[in-house]
Amino acid sequence: MSVIKSYSASGPKARVIPTNIERRPVGPNDVQIAIEHCGVCHTDIHFVNNDWGMTNYPVVPGHEIVGRVTEVGSSVKNFKAGDRAAIGCLVDSCGVCVNCEKGLEQYCLNGFTATYNSETTDPGGFTYGGYSTSVVAKESFILSIPDNLKGPGVAPLLCAGITTYSPLRNWNISPGQKVGVIGLGGLGHMGVKFGRALGAQVTMITSSEQKGEDARMLGAHEVLLSTSANALAKEAGSFDFLLNTIPVDHDLTPFLELLKTDGAMCVVGAVEPLSKVNAAQLIFGRRSLTGSLIGGIAETQEMLNFCGGNDILSEVEVIRMDGINEAFERMRKSDVKYRFVIDLATLS
Ligand SMILES: NC(=O)c1ccc[n+]([C@@H]2O[C@H](COP(=O)([O-])OP(=O)(O)OC[C@H]3O[C@@H](n4cnc5c(N)ncnc54)[C@H](OP(=O)(O)O)[C@@H]3O)[C@@H](O)[C@H]2O)c1
Ligand SMILES: [Zn+2]
Ligand SMILES: [Zn+2]
Repeated sequence: MSVIKSYSASGPKARVIPTNIERRPVGPNDVQIAIEHCGVCHTDIHFVNNDWGMTNYPVVPGHEIVGRVTEVGSSVKNFKAGDRAAIGCLVDSCGVCVNCEKGLEQYCLNGFTATYNSETTDPGGFTYGGYSTSVVAKESFILSIPDNLKGPGVAPLLCAGITTYSPLRNWNISPGQKVGVIGLGGLGHMGVKFGRALGAQVTMITSSEQKGEDARMLGAHEVLLSTSANALAKEAGSFDFLLNTIPVDHDLTPFLELLKTDGAMCVVGAVEPLSKVNAAQLIFGRRSLTGSLIGGIAETQEMLNFCGGNDILSEVEVIRMDGINEAFERMRKSDVKYRFVIDLATLS
């Protein structure tokens, strides 16, 4: 057992503050990673706030973890001390259900163990995330980082990356298709990059007029202002696929109207009841409304390799660990270009 430094929140209105936590000793199948960078996902804010009513306090957020291996267990085969390694949103699953067998650990029928806030036999009783100096996890949930992907822009691939890559792949996004990415934040900017890399015609659909130029720099062919009913009306019925990253409940009506017959909108952002869905929009047009949760371990590795092959990194603002509360505040105002990443050297 080792006591390490972390940042945690003790309740829904609490600031995220320095806290010592215990990590389990390295078991035969475990890898210990000294964390260098951890991305700040909007999910971290939802958990600190207890927006989804499932937070176990104190919560140590962080599931976009990149660092160096410091120790491996006796049965570990693919990692050694000194290797670069990463952890995303999952650290365990049952391994035997039909979904786990298909590599869909995120849909484990017996419940996956998330990188933070999940029940565990580890010290503390709940998993603790990457707002900390080190982490211990099973080798089978550790990812390898292609050599050409360097620096803090790697970390957000572990959640924002896989959460956008997985649905684009699952719905077979390919050249010639028209794809809209709704919300230009951490997930959205990765969605634009992947949509572009997969050959689609990509439109950034944003509520922030000033983000248009950035959206084009990130690879968007077009920019559509979601606050303009006129602009949306002109694009009605033209999209094959929409990836919706808006983090809160909102009216889906204007977005569903954008879909072609047989088009699909995949909601990845608002993990909560959506108050306004008009089924008539689905029925007249055979449109689909669907969702997607992160991605499995094999697909996350595939995504990292795809990023390596296509030189894809996240656009980041690096912050100190003690800047986390200010970063949350800015994210609440949609003011981040386009992912905060914590430099964990500022915690040790
Ligand atoms: N499904 C999954 O597996 C999964 C994985 C990770 C995260 N998530 C969830 O995905 C959501 C987005 O995460 P993120 O880290 O990308 O967040 P983020 O960086 O804060 O970006 C969200 C973006 O959505 C837009 N937005 C925010 N509030 C809005 C509102 N009230 N109405 C319309 N648009 C709004 C803004 O873009 P514009 O300024 O361009 O409008 C904002 O930049 C969160 O709820 C998170 O919990 C889900
Ligand atoms: Zn996340
Ligand atoms: Zn399972």
